[in-house]
Amino acid sequence: MYDGLDMGRVPRHVAIIMDGNGRWANARGMHRTQGHAAGEPALFDVIDGALEIGVKWLTAYTFSTENWSRDQYEVDYLMHFNVDLLQRRRDELHAKGIRIHFIGERNDPRVPDELRERMRDAEQLTEANDQMHMVFAFNYGGRTEIAGAARRLAEDAVAGRIDPSDVDLEAVASRMYLPNMPDPDLVIRTSGELRTSNYLLWEAAYSEYVFTPVLWPDFDRHTLFECIVEYQSRERRFGGAIDAAEPARDPAREANTDIG
Ligand code: IPE
Ligand code: IPE
Ligand code: MG
Repeated sequence: MYDGLDMGRVPRHVAIIMDGNGRWANARGMHRTQGHAAGEPALFDVIDGALEIGVKWLTAYTFSTENWSRDQYEVDYLMHFNVDLLQRRRDELHAKGIRIHFIGERNDPRVPDELRERMRDAEQLTEANDQMHMVFAFNYGGRTEIAGAARRLAEDAVAGRIDPSDVDLEAVASRMYLPNMPDPDLVIRTSGELRTSNYLLWEAAYSEYVFTPVLWPDFDRHTLFECIVEYQSRERRFGGAIDAAEPARDPAREANTDIG
């Protein structure tokens, strides 16, 4: 096992912002899209590493609601790449006992029908798996997710299903894309950028962030383990006192005991 990793304190949910593909390609005189292709083996090595140490939820940011602003060639490439990847890799993930999920605006008319179908097939095929949950954040934006929850609350209020005075944290959380997904313990961003770029804004309220200069195609399970060692050196307080006698506990986690 990786030196220095405490197997008793492996994060339950690791969320990754896979960034730096374009710069990786540019540095090699390649087209940006070749950087996306080079990111695939990195992701699959990270998936194996996460399985190896017992991470139960892994979330990867594959396309943001803002990424539509890239040039059409790159957007088309990424749409096709996602269809192709699901086709080629779905059975392998299934054989490893991984349950596949997607968060994001999949019904956006800009998302190709074929991709929507592949997403649904992958979710259905793997729905009984429980080794690890793999969540692809595709056409995902944290603000859009929160706005969607607000819209559903408004609809429920108008229909008389909820009283506005009953709108609390749980009412909002239960209207997110995947209500059973535990909050990420650790959010990793590669490529040296120090921002969230609209990732898991609600869910990452108390996540630990680790930023690494490594460009995504150069990332692998060992750099993942390094990030987890860094995470394990942090003291999580969830707003509690620094000199508290008891170790800090995540209130959201206490409330939710039935999730992997
Ligand atoms: C991340 O790499 C992948 C996606 C956003 C789809 P980038 O494409 O953002 O690479 P850089 O940040 O331009 O280097
Ligand atoms: C975030 O990276 C989105 C993904 C990794 C899919 P971006 O490269 O799109 O973010 P910014 O533009 O640098 O903030
Ligand atoms: Mg980027």
